[in-house]
Amino acid sequence: MAEKKHVILTGDRPTGKLHIGHYVGSLKNRVALQNTGKYDTYIMIADQQALTDNARDPEKIRRSLHEVSLDYLAVGIDPQKSTIFVQSQIPALSELTMHYLNLVTVSRLKRNPTVKTEIQQKKFGESVPAGFLIYPVSQAADITAFKADTVPVGDDQEPMLEQTREIVRTFNRIYDQEILVEPEGVFPPKGEGRIPGLDGNAKMSKSLGNAIYLSDDADTIQKKVMSMYTDPTHIKVSDPGHVEGNTVFTYLDIFDPDKDQVAKLKEQYQAGGLGDVKIKRYLNDVLQAELKPIRERRKRYAANIDYVDQVLKEGSARANEVANQTLKEVRDAIGINYFG
Ligand code: TRP
Repeated sequence: MAEKKHVILTGDRPTGKLHIGHYVGSLKNRVALQNTGKYDTYIMIADQQALTDNARDPEKIRRSLHEVSLDYLAVGIDPQKSTIFVQSQIPALSELTMHYLNLVTVSRLKRNPTVKTEIQQKKFGESVPAGFLIYPVSQAADITAFKADTVPVGDDQEPMLEQTREIVRTFNRIYDQEILVEPEGVFPPKGEGRIPGLDGNAKMSKSLGNAIYLSDDADTIQKKVMSMYTDPTHIKVSDPGHVEGNTVFTYLDIFDPDKDQVAKLKEQYQAGGLGDVKIKRYLNDVLQAELKPIRERRKRYAANIDYVDQVLKEGSARANEVANQTLKEVRDAIGINYFG
């Protein structure tokens, strides 16, 4: 018998365009895993999850659906190798969520560290939408519907995987069947997964206005690089500078394939004599080389939105088949398939 393939399920909330933080945090990993040919890969645009805190602005989510699809295709997610689909088009995910909600306590939901941080950031206080509080359970439905064992995501998603594993274990134990599969996260290499914002803030995000987008044109990228936070104590070119906490060097560590060159530049900067403008120009060249082919592919797909819609439609049809099969097994296990 042929060995069963590993399954990947992953995705992003469509709340805008994707930036280079998404790229190094998860997109790169997904493309690499897809191209090994060892996985059945499902990539989901999590519009329903995005609506949990955007119910009053569905237009933003609608618009972002295409933006995220274009970003996916541009970085090399290949619809021939991966199934790209839209969460809201898969009704089985909602029903699975309902079944799993009975296996999770409210206090456990309130303890999820990522959700906790988001509730603070979004200043929800006691007014957190119920759908938002329970989104880790809907995420467990996303992952288990495809029996995914591999979930390539950013570090902040580990609590979602932990909660998914708990739900899987509880379900399989209570209904005494090995139906659901426990997933493992695949995270970027240490030090390369989290890219600070242009301003040196630990997080790159749209709301902080400190991001470089995969769709940014060459001029915009250059302007952003030239505005980057470096070392406030490095005033004259001849002054010795700091490379730790210096965003330009953090980016070089992540993006420059020439590690020897980066080591040399760091030495020069620390000794004094290497100016910020020069080092930023160098980083600009490195980033432009990486982002140009992505931007050009994105443009080509953007000129053919009908094709993009076709990819999402076909992907969603395939995803429905798989998710419906899992839902049937889950209903059987619970014993609610009353009429056959
Ligand atoms: N929570 C993820 C994010 O905000 C998106 C997501 C939804 C997801 N469902 C998923 C990621 C399932 C991995 C697996 O980016």
